[in-house]
Amino acid sequence: MLVIHTIAELQSVLQTERQKGHTIGFVPTMGALHEGHASLIRRSASENDVTVVSIFLNPTQFNDKKDLERYPRTLEADCRLSEQCGAYIAFAPSVQEVYPEPDTRTFSYPPTDCVMEGAMRPGHFNGVCQVVSKLLTYTNPDRLYLGEKDYQQIAVIKRMVADLGFKVQIVPCPVIREESGLARSSRNTLLTADERALAANIYRVMKDSLTLGYDVQQTHDYVVEHINAFDGLEVQYFSIVDGDTLADVASWDDADSIVGCITVFCGSKPIRLIDHIRYK
Ligand code: PAF
Repeated sequence: MLVIHTIAELQSVLQTERQKGHTIGFVPTMGALHEGHASLIRRSASENDVTVVSIFLNPTQFNDKKDLERYPRTLEADCRLSEQCGAYIAFAPSVQEVYPEPDTRTFSYPPTDCVMEGAMRPGHFNGVCQVVSKLLTYTNPDRLYLGEKDYQQIAVIKRMVADLGFKVQIVPCPVIREESGLARSSRNTLLTADERALAANIYRVMKDSLTLGYDVQQTHDYVVEHINAFDGLEVQYFSIVDGDTLADVASWDDADSIVGCITVFCGSKPIRLIDHIRYK
């Protein structure tokens, strides 16, 4: 596997691959790779001739400096895992390489980018669109692999890809969970063993809510009350929304696809965890 740090070298290697008629799969990451990323890389490697994994902790999508500072940085291990999963290129540029000038572009795809995470973390999706649009321009892939763990992010990126006319197929990949049901996330490494066990209740309660036959409001209240009942868990929001537009729904008949998206503070630090569940 090649570890590449500059855009020029990446583009030169990919040009050669394209001249050979090879297809390119792209997995964007911020590093701290875990089994969730591994599943995306393996899938890309099985569906494309060449898989590029970007490892870039993008500062423009962090509206909380502390969150950026404590984000785990594990480049060597990330490269090892990428290679084991079949990546051909790990692209790990510096901040200066990606942002030689401050990026002043603004992206706006309501309601996808202004509800839930968009409301809680102003500027977050703008930063995601800034970096993903740059990375897609450098790599020009046939397929883009994104984890459904960040459900809202996929909805926003779909809009951006359509808006900017990138000719790339978006491949959403299912959440990888620990045996306890806890969604795999780079942030889980920041949890103690006890907090990890506690956090497993988030998905358990959401799963229980599938079986109750409640209406939308009752389902919402059930999930929030039952998660908040655990000492050390605090729901920031739980929104039951149209699975495509992310607009709130009031009834199960309001959309063809409906998901519940949740953010929970866990433990004493606390660590902010996100997850979702599909209702239909
Ligand atoms: O999902 C992530 O890890 C990031 O938001 C992404 C897509 C790599 C952009 O920095």
